[in-house]
Amino acid sequence: MPVTIRRATPDDLDDLIDLRECVAREGIWIGAELPLDREGDRARHLATIEAQGGTTDLMLIAELYGVLVGSLSMHQRVGIADLGMNIADGHRGQGIGSALLAAAVEWAREVGAHKVQLEHWPWNHGARALYERVGFVEEGYRRRQYRRKSGALWDSVLMGLVLDEDAPGHGERATEPPGTAGG
Ligand SMILES: CC(C)(COP(=O)(O)OP(=O)(O)OC[C@H]1O[C@@H](n2cnc3c(N)ncnc32)[C@H](O)[C@@H]1OP(=O)(O)O)[C@@H](O)C(=O)NCCC(=O)NCCS
Repeated sequence: MPVTIRRATPDDLDDLIDLRECVAREGIWIGAELPLDREGDRARHLATIEAQGGTTDLMLIAELYGVLVGSLSMHQRVGIADLGMNIADGHRGQGIGSALLAAAVEWAREVGAHKVQLEHWPWNHGARALYERVGFVEEGYRRRQYRRKSGALWDSVLMGLVLDEDAPGHGERATEPPGTAGG
């Protein structure tokens, strides 16, 4: 399949926001809710795109026959890269998410991040399966975490992928500080 993965440019902004709006309209996959603050989103996306020369920000897009069908953003601070991604309905289950994710994890390694983290809604079994396949593990179940526009509080699942297993630290759940017998 002729999918191209590349970094987003300012010319992609409208398509990026349209994709986010379509996925938000589905109502059950991502945090964003309609109506989107399109101007605010545009400013945030542009800031990410413009920062891509450095080590903190990444905005990848997936194109199929020149049409934007997927996006993935990463924001890295203090070695922890936060990830979010969207594939357009109708283009899921074709390996596009996997291709974006592989490129993003490679980028995170290149910029020296020691970890990638993300959150998903507990019912997003497809996203979870995708993340688990590349090594993410659940790091927390966050009960009644996010207030929705309806007033309801939704749970979320925190997942992490450790990229640096070599630095001194703990292998399992810590009970002692590093450098002590149990640490
Ligand atoms: C979740 C999402 C990013 C996955 O992207 P995708 O392009 O559909 O995923 P892929 O085709 O690369 O699938 C890779 C693997 O993930 C798993 N997977 C993906 N979707 C799945 C589903 N609906 N059910 C079960 N497993 C699924 C499978 O293991 C799959 O491998 P396989 O096809 O060999 O079985 C995409 O469905 C999406 O954008 N959904 C809406 C927005 C969203 O949920 N964003 C993430 C928020 S945390």
